[in-house]
Amino acid sequence: MNSFEWYNPTKIIFGEDSFEKISKEIPKNARILMIYGGGSIFKNGIYDAIKKQLDGFYVEEFGGIEPNPTYQTLKKAIEQIKTNDLNFILAVGGGSVIDGTKFISAGVLFEGDSWEIPKKGIRVEKAMPFGTVLTLPATGSEMNSGAVITNKETGEKLGMGSPHLFPKFSICNPSVIKSLPKTQIQNGIIDAFTHVLEQYVTFPIGASLQDRISESILKTLIEITPKLLNEPYNVTTASNFMYSCTMALNGQIQKGVPTDWATHMIGHELTAHFNIDHARTLAIIMPNLYRVKFENKKEKLAQMAERVFNIEKTDTNIMAEKAIESLEAFYKEIEMPYKISDYTKEGKGISEKIKETFISRNWLGLGERKDISPDEVEKIVEMSL
Ligand code: NZQ
Ligand code: ZN
Repeated sequence: MNSFEWYNPTKIIFGEDSFEKISKEIPKNARILMIYGGGSIFKNGIYDAIKKQLDGFYVEEFGGIEPNPTYQTLKKAIEQIKTNDLNFILAVGGGSVIDGTKFISAGVLFEGDSWEIPKKGIRVEKAMPFGTVLTLPATGSEMNSGAVITNKETGEKLGMGSPHLFPKFSICNPSVIKSLPKTQIQNGIIDAFTHVLEQYVTFPIGASLQDRISESILKTLIEITPKLLNEPYNVTTASNFMYSCTMALNGQIQKGVPTDWATHMIGHELTAHFNIDHARTLAIIMPNLYRVKFENKKEKLAQMAERVFNIEKTDTNIMAEKAIESLEAFYKEIEMPYKISDYTKEGKGISEKIKETFISRNWLGLGERKDISPDEVEKIVEMSL
């Protein structure tokens, strides 16, 4: 196991009764900017439920954060905070609203153009405090310090992060999934599943506990998937889903182990070019990345085959191949298409474009061994068309 430091100060307030606990978490003198997305919270009652809890606080609002939040929209919220002297942000939404809030919280106190934060990979030294009300289990953004921001003028989608960007608290009420369309539940399952794989399917390093926690999250997601997709709302299933998504990307399974993240980096390009939902880009890329980097990953793939997909132990190569097949079978089971052509007719030429973009960013060696070359990235995308 590698040496590590683990810091995670986010308070998770979990359960169907958690909305009622929000006012205790916000400083009494807070001048709040409540941030939300395109309006789902008005239809499903979450807006009213939260506003009721904020009675007595000074609250302004900023709506319209889009899926894959853009710098162009977020900088307007930064202006509102500065102009009206606000001092606390409350994000009410999914990963996009929470990520957008992290960018805003960093941007408000940043001197200069806030796009430089993701563009130059700046780890900000200060940020405005914020809390979140999670409405879509998927990204883990409610308990981590990362964000992914899109610049629609330049067509870039870039990550950022800083220890100052952990939410102060996150309200995780599993009942929010009642209003989610099936496509978003599929996305949540696959995003969380892929987060685990990015931190688990690398090479063995003797981190038995991290491996078994990862396998537990994967097995829990597999177990609850048919119920989540086919049965009416059930608080037990919803809670297991929500908590699995949070635990998949809150830092815990990442500590002391090598991590990959190349599937995410390639996937972000597919979102930037074709507006394919984040999780869907991951399903497209991951199996082919495993095929191209098979030698690097076969031990952990074989371990996953045995421990997660219950495949009888045989030769490592055969087991590893079966793990990739099982992953694709899982996508099929949940009816998630996993080819670029399932989402766009404009795929031709994208593999070369992504390769060139990665070269221009000097991303010459990705993955846990820093050996996924731009040529291999091109091959992976080509295989995913
Ligand atoms: O905008 P509204 O109207 O609220 O609708 C949203 C949006 O259209 C809707 N929605 C959210 N909660 C709902 C709901 N609809 C009905 N009922 C509810 N309770 O769902 C749609 C998608 O929302 P979004 O927030 O975009 O989805 P998600 O949570 O999957 O977030 C995706 C973003 O997170 C980034 C992705 O790149 C993408 O930009 N990620 C962030 C990560 C992080 N911070 O750690 C890691 C991830 O790997 C990922 O990259
Ligand atoms: Zn993700």
